[in-house]
Amino acid sequence: MATTQPFDMVLFGATGDLVMRKILPALYDAHRAGSLHTEGRIIALGRQDGARDDYLAQVRDKALPHVKSPGTDWDAFVARIDYLKLDAERDDDFRALAQRVQRQPGRVTVCYLATAPRLFSGICARLAAVGLNHADVRVVLEKPLGHDLRSSAQINAEVAQHFNENQLYRIDHYLGKESVQNLMAVRFGNVLFEPLWRREWIDNVQITIAEELGVEGRGDFYDKTGALRDMVQNHLLQLLCMVAMEPPPNLSADAVRDEKLKVLKALRPFGADDLQQRVVRGQYRAGVSEGRQVPGYQDEPNVARDSRTETFVALRAEIANWRWSGVPFYLRTGKRLPERLAEIVVSFRDVPLNLFQRPASVQSTNRLVIRLQPEESISLHMLGKEPGEGMRLQPTVLNLDLHSASRRRRADAYERLLLDVIHGRLGLFMRRDELAAAWHWVEPILEAWSADDLPPRPYSAGTWGPAASNALLSRGGASWHEEI
Ligand code: BG6
Repeated sequence: MATTQPFDMVLFGATGDLVMRKILPALYDAHRAGSLHTEGRIIALGRQDGARDDYLAQVRDKALPHVKSPGTDWDAFVARIDYLKLDAERDDDFRALAQRVQRQPGRVTVCYLATAPRLFSGICARLAAVGLNHADVRVVLEKPLGHDLRSSAQINAEVAQHFNENQLYRIDHYLGKESVQNLMAVRFGNVLFEPLWRREWIDNVQITIAEELGVEGRGDFYDKTGALRDMVQNHLLQLLCMVAMEPPPNLSADAVRDEKLKVLKALRPFGADDLQQRVVRGQYRAGVSEGRQVPGYQDEPNVARDSRTETFVALRAEIANWRWSGVPFYLRTGKRLPERLAEIVVSFRDVPLNLFQRPASVQSTNRLVIRLQPEESISLHMLGKEPGEGMRLQPTVLNLDLHSASRRRRADAYERLLLDVIHGRLGLFMRRDELAAAWHWVEPILEAWSADDLPPRPYSAGTWGPAASNALLSRGGASWHEEI
């Protein structure tokens, strides 16, 4: 990849978890790969008094452990980092920031807002007040952007008073994962799948993002958020869009985003009558995970003892358009599930006439499995002949992963997306109208849950969520995909 132009990467919330676990390690990987301009600087902002050395000590303790393979160039990377004390609500601190940021032709300023979303509007207003909203400034907004449709619309409207839409990078790191982009390549770079990619040939689509971890010290944030806002409204819906969208006329950011928006707008709304049938929410209880006994969600630090926050969601989405009408898209996500797994499974219909012997254990249909985690792969599950006498079928898997053969290093999602921001590529970021459409669709679920007397269904840590999640699929004659 070409080296970026010179930049200042201003990190709001620089002492926080996201910056330490994801952003700094991703910037280091980019540095190591030679993708960052030598004149690229990181300005870390934090509320603590203290000097750069104190911040760097935190980076060593909290970010370095998340770097996959630290090398001798770590010190050269750290030399790019500057620290500035900033209170996001103090005008004077922004004046100091404006002085610290370099303004030169061709130099980009990226302001990464890794803070609570309630601070976004104020930060953008203060950046603008000190002139840091000129055309070479880009703002990255972390998710969840808002808490519901109304608050997200308000934040977007306030931010838009100071920045143009093409300066705003609403990040969803799932779009930065290589296999998600490979899905586009497989769909639109070949003729094979596209004729089959429709209701006539596809039985159902399943999208799972399972985590083995619990809330990991983020109880305070998570208890106000829950799995629907944290994962479904953004990551899972974006993946659904990548599967369901029409071929865009070209790969420009807006052409792709226009197609994703059409999918979001075609999602069949939840009604009071079918919401209970189509959505399952769960919360984990104590159990065994990661090989040890772990506490239940309500016993996690900073979680209310009577919390009703969901740590698991499974739902049936439907897309009301000619291509997809009647095809269920089952989405599932949860914490404290048996393994870390993210995958999209496209299950095709069975053959119209079965000529062969097929053991009952063999899953009958062809499946395209796009694995995002723990490793990235794309595979096509088919049936072939069992060697020897007779005509018995056995499962066989075609690996379509073009990368395993390649020695090229794969950039992590955050690395890829951060480089895209510096390069000014908007294609993998959510546009304002996409975000609004996604909130619009989940809003009835949020409303129903807040009016509901029933708590989330319990499930033991280390299991695949409440039994109702299996029932959701069996009602449609399907079951969650299991590896053969
Ligand atoms: C984040 C959520 O967006 O995604 C976290 O806030 C979650 O709760 C994380 O753990 C999962 O990302 P990944 O890439 O580790 O699957």
